[in-house]
Amino acid sequence: MNITRRTAIAAIAALGVTAVPAVAQQYPTKPITAIVPFAAGGPTDVVTRLVTEHMSRTLGQQIVVENIGGAGGSIGMTRAAAAAPDGYTIAVGNMGTQSAAPALYPNLKYDPATSFTQISVVNFTPQTIVSKKTLEPKDLKELLAYLKANSEKLNYGHAGVGSISYVSGFVFNAQFGFKPALVAYKGTGPALNDLVGGQIDYMVDQSLNVIPQITAGTIKAYAVAHPERIAALPDVPTTKELGVDFIFSAWNAMVAPKGLPKDIQDKLLDALSKAMDDPTIIKRYEELGSTAPKGADRGPAGLQKLVESEVARITPVLKAAAAK
Ligand code: MLT
Repeated sequence: MNITRRTAIAAIAALGVTAVPAVAQQYPTKPITAIVPFAAGGPTDVVTRLVTEHMSRTLGQQIVVENIGGAGGSIGMTRAAAAAPDGYTIAVGNMGTQSAAPALYPNLKYDPATSFTQISVVNFTPQTIVSKKTLEPKDLKELLAYLKANSEKLNYGHAGVGSISYVSGFVFNAQFGFKPALVAYKGTGPALNDLVGGQIDYMVDQSLNVIPQITAGTIKAYAVAHPERIAALPDVPTTKELGVDFIFSAWNAMVAPKGLPKDIQDKLLDALSKAMDDPTIIKRYEELGSTAPKGADRGPAGLQKLVESEVARITPVLKAAAAK
């Protein structure tokens, strides 16, 4: 009996048999929670809201950002690791929570390399060395000399032990022998408010976070810790061109709990990819000194490789700096 192709497809459809498991095919059927392990208004929060707003349109469901700050972001990422792997809890951690935390929290309740389903790096952005507007130094050379003479009377703001602002500041201060008082916040959003207000003296923070205040002239920028200048800060020199050996790049990354079904992981990656390839988001990234991962850097394998290499890179650096 010669069953036409059309008849066969109709028969299969009538049986409700689909090639894709029903769960993933319908996912998402309710709003998704995106945990940001830092306070609202900081760089991790800003970039998460930027991409998840676009993702929600692709996925057809709201993505609700939940800020869970504390302990350099490790509290929020612990919550994310413990959530059900059903696609309704995702999180955006960063180089601090996903690479430095193991060296700084001996009892960390998650392993960045094995406790999550990796989705992708969301953005890369260099760190920038900034101070309150009224700090005397006019350039990086003067800042280094000023900090050498005065750091013990100054405050350095960060987003908690293990955050990028903590780690990059820890390395910067140890490298040059500065010993400021460390002031912890639940994110560099609130820390930046106090830098603008003059309550703290300096920070090393994600360019993504400080560019608007530098452009507005409410804080002072000394250098971008990057090999080349960034278009969003054309007048801010790099540490490299100033002959200062301090390069530090930040990255934010989207993850889900370990055990997420592959088809749901693929759907989240597809929606994130569409966001990162959207011209309006590409433009916003440029304004915020950020770049999206491309090629092999994008996706689960690229993120897994980055986490493993960054843990291996930063752990001895932190231990050596702590020993100084
Ligand atoms: C960090 O220092 O890890 C981040 O800048 C914190 C944040 O996103 O608020």
